Amino acid sequence: MKVLFLGDIVGEPGRRYAAQTLSSIIDELRPDLVIANAENATKGRGLSLKSAEELYDAGIEIVTMGNHTWDQRQIFDFIDDDARIVRPANYPAGTPGRGYTVCKVNGVDVLIVSLMGRTFLSQLDCPFATLERILADHAQIKHVIVDMHAETTSEKLALAWDFDGRVSAVIGTHTHVPTADEDILPNGTAYITDVGMVGPRDGILGMRRREVILRMRTHLPQRFEVADGPRQFCAVWFELNAEGKALNIQPIRRCEPRQEQRF
Ligand SMILES: [Fe+2]
Ligand SMILES: [Fe+2]
Repeated sequence: MKVLFLGDIVGEPGRRYAAQTLSSIIDELRPDLVIANAENATKGRGLSLKSAEELYDAGIEIVTMGNHTWDQRQIFDFIDDDARIVRPANYPAGTPGRGYTVCKVNGVDVLIVSLMGRTFLSQLDCPFATLERILADHAQIKHVIVDMHAETTSEKLALAWDFDGRVSAVIGTHTHVPTADEDILPNGTAYITDVGMVGPRDGILGMRRREVILRMRTHLPQRFEVADGPRQFCAVWFELNAEGKALNIQPIRRCEPRQEQRF
């Protein structure tokens, strides 16, 4: 089973570049499943219905979310009815939407779980205990893909090592900066600390630099907008065998050149 997982898609530039890049990658590599983190897909914050439809039209089959899940209030109108949207499973009981979804890929059940880390983020339920519970309820499923949406490298590594061999992949998202540590752990779990993002390459995490720098310099409130200019595409590609073990994992990255003068 060949899986393509795109990091956080940021705003319209991210959606457009994801669609454009995916059309050639899908033709070339023929993935069986395409997943993307979409927590920043609408104006850099949250996910509107129109943006979700744009991502589905581009070939993305499942979208995972994160700390920005609720930033577009419209999501409350459709998250319960759309099994393709997965928000962190460790939100309190009763939170709208679902924390995992099961989809059929070539006749095989694949469990896709979203979790959020707690360091420097909301104090949600324990992601480790939440994943234990979800796995216990789906013991018959061998193909399990986890989006670990977290700020710190240690929290992502700890979850991956703890569940090595019990899940097929732990894919880190949220920081928007790709890491170079893609690996298959000893018991067959594909891992990367962060996939990176799909969106403007010359912003700060995809947002216009000026306001981000001003906020850091002045500590005054600023309105962040999605940056423009050249774009980057960060994804990972991995293959799973019939037992749900990872055979390989590799990053797929594309980047548009800068137009501006260098010196
Ligand atoms: Fe993000
Ligand atoms: Fe995030």
